[in-house]
Amino acid sequence: MTYREIREKFQKFFESKGHKLVPSASLVPENDSSVLFTTAGMQQFKPYYTGAMDVEKDFGSLNTASIQKAVRTSAIEEVGDESHLTFFEMLGNFSFGGYEKKEAIQYAHEFITKEMGLPIDYVSVFGGDSDVSADEESEKIWKEIDSNIKIEKYGKEDNFWGPTGEEGPCGPSTEIFVNGVEIWNLVFNEFYCSKDKKLEPLKMKGVDTGMGLERLAMVSQGKSNVYETDLFIATMDKIRELSPKDEEHSQRIIADHIRSAVFIISDGVFPSNTDKGYILRRLIRRAVRQADLVGMPRGSLAKVANVVINDYGNVYENLVTKGEEIRNEIQKEENSFIANLSKGLKQLEKLGNNISGKDAFDLYQSYGFPIEMTRGIVILEKGGSVDMEGYKEELKKHSELSTTASAGRFKGGLAGSGDMETKYHTATHLLFAVLRKILGEEVEQKGSNITPERLRFDFSYPQKLTDEEKQQVENLVNQKIEEGLDTSMQEVSVEEAKKMGAHGVFDKKYGDKVKVYKIGDFSLEICGGPHVKNTSELGEFKITKEESSSGGIRRIRAVLE
Ligand code: ALA
Repeated sequence: MTYREIREKFQKFFESKGHKLVPSASLVPENDSSVLFTTAGMQQFKPYYTGAMDVEKDFGSLNTASIQKAVRTSAIEEVGDESHLTFFEMLGNFSFGGYEKKEAIQYAHEFITKEMGLPIDYVSVFGGDSDVSADEESEKIWKEIDSNIKIEKYGKEDNFWGPTGEEGPCGPSTEIFVNGVEIWNLVFNEFYCSKDKKLEPLKMKGVDTGMGLERLAMVSQGKSNVYETDLFIATMDKIRELSPKDEEHSQRIIADHIRSAVFIISDGVFPSNTDKGYILRRLIRRAVRQADLVGMPRGSLAKVANVVINDYGNVYENLVTKGEEIRNEIQKEENSFIANLSKGLKQLEKLGNNISGKDAFDLYQSYGFPIEMTRGIVILEKGGSVDMEGYKEELKKHSELSTTASAGRFKGGLAGSGDMETKYHTATHLLFAVLRKILGEEVEQKGSNITPERLRFDFSYPQKLTDEEKQQVENLVNQKIEEGLDTSMQEVSVEEAKKMGAHGVFDKKYGDKVKVYKIGDFSLEICGGPHVKNTSELGEFKITKEESSSGGIRRIRAVLE
């Protein structure tokens, strides 16, 4: 059965059982900031489990079904084996007060054994623990359906779902295994898990199921790994054609990561140094590294992306409409990383097999090597080690000690601190904090100049800011202005300032005591001041120019209106 046939079969089956088919939500969750990406089909339906939103009003049914795009990077180091992927499509049926365990299990059994004609090896149910009792009901239902079925009982680790993000619906699950592969997870959302991990029973018992299309295709097409299914054939063929060395493991990683990258970019995310953009950047950089290993010529990854776009274009139209942009973004990231890759690899060669935290940090800082890429090379390829504790300490230390070139300049107060200059001074602190939020913690202040007309701010960053990044920076500064944050000042010793995590150049320029300025909980810098009392005094912040200042240093000019 082709994957297209499987998709259709699934949709028809659940439609015939009274489910409303709902299109996949974006990979960027719309109303859920607790997660970076959509990781499960239930995510777009979270508010219906609690009754916060009315499912009948929105979908005309108490039951829905979807084929949801999902990104999960928790097992990124396992990608390349038979079945782990960072992007997959999840087939799911859901109920919000329409039906419960019995129908959910019956539907799943019927679909797998009758529609797909596959034998179930065994199923697992929740075996209970100190705070939630065993799911005896599911066990009983399975036995009624098939008295010979093998039932395993597992704990929370395996048979309890959720919540996605910090809080949300959760509950015990039952899983179906075919050919030794975990195929389908049926979750019974009976609780609401709060931020402090307390379980409150939900008024309505919900159903949430998820079955990976790739794994289902794998068992139904009788393949030993997902890359041999028709979901990956064209992509893998292209990769083999482009790679002089036939290294299957590397080729699989390229296939998975580029497929993820294509879908992530199609939902409006671009490579950057924080959050979603950084996950995307890591995926592409890891693919660049594998492409290098198999000897692919430069520019190959965009060609691989193109195969993914063509393959999925008739299901996800935005891949086609954004095709050009997707290929460009992947190409740009490859270009910007490729030179650093060879330099970084040489450096890594020199460092040997046991990498200190500082070395790992330097590889990131100087060559843009994401930490798990360094780990992959050192641990998986060379059998060496990376000091992760040391790396984390280095990251922390670095953010504490990052330089504030202006700190010396401003020591003892501004020369002529007119009102406008005072405002620009506070705006500069906000801008610095915002840049670190949006572009990443490695942004350092490299210079600052203020006149009554404008601010100018230099900072370390390897490339031009995109229009979107500039917009994000502007928006976040304005948001902080609108929030009306109070500023406050404290005179402390240099030692104490360091402990507080204030930004500044900790060198001899400072006397015994320094002034630490705080803006809400958002910015903390050593500085002579003066500053406005509250950010609401600043007016509207606008970037007028973003340009290169010197190698690796960008310059922003901005005004307050
Ligand atoms: N939400 C459950 C999962 O993704 C079904 O496994």
